[in-house]
Amino acid sequence: MNLTIMNKIPLVFATNNLNKLKEVQALLPDFIELKSLSDINCNEEISETATTLEGNAILKADFVTQKFHINCFADDTGLEVESLNFAPGVFSARYSGIDSNSEKNMEKLLFNLINKSNRNAQFRTVIALNLSGQQFLFEGVCKGKIIEEKRGIKGFGYDPIFIPDGFSKTFAEMNLDEKGTISHRGKAIQQLLHFLKNI
Ligand code: IMP
Repeated sequence: MNLTIMNKIPLVFATNNLNKLKEVQALLPDFIELKSLSDINCNEEISETATTLEGNAILKADFVTQKFHINCFADDTGLEVESLNFAPGVFSARYSGIDSNSEKNMEKLLFNLINKSNRNAQFRTVIALNLSGQQFLFEGVCKGKIIEEKRGIKGFGYDPIFIPDGFSKTFAEMNLDEKGTISHRGKAIQQLLHFLKNI
């Protein structure tokens, strides 16, 4: 399969997050034409009902490919905490319940870690790529620790309570570039890009 001889390959990123979309488009080789869900008129909420990150990434990518017959990739991320049996994991976004938000999720996590000496954790991102009838998976991991109190105001989600290994700042105290080079998502995207540049 020599895809490089074709002009442009349309590729959907199954996200409505325009920041993620811009970030990835800037990194892609010229022969990939990145499209958002709204570019293909996919306005439905794709429910994330799988019990693993891999399952949700595959579910989202397959939904788009099957319905729109187009190449697509999708990502899913979770925070896996060692002493909590790798929770919240795939449930990271809704850890504190139906009306969860980042503040409530962090509070619940800090509460569940009271008196736990092992505060090792990792963010893990899985990307599922459907390309020309084949499926490929990519993974990015960032290991670190959950601290006892929030620090920093940048980023999102669990950033204020996560310090990546080898650093003394939380993700919420880092700027985007700094976080992007070491983050789970950054690493998974780099793997995807490496693959796309070499097809
Ligand atoms: P998503 O799969 O990228 O939507 O991530 C699911 C949930 O994981 C988010 O709602 C956040 O709570 C958390 N999360 C994902 N990525 C990050 C990150 O880079 N920093 C902090 N929290 C994150």
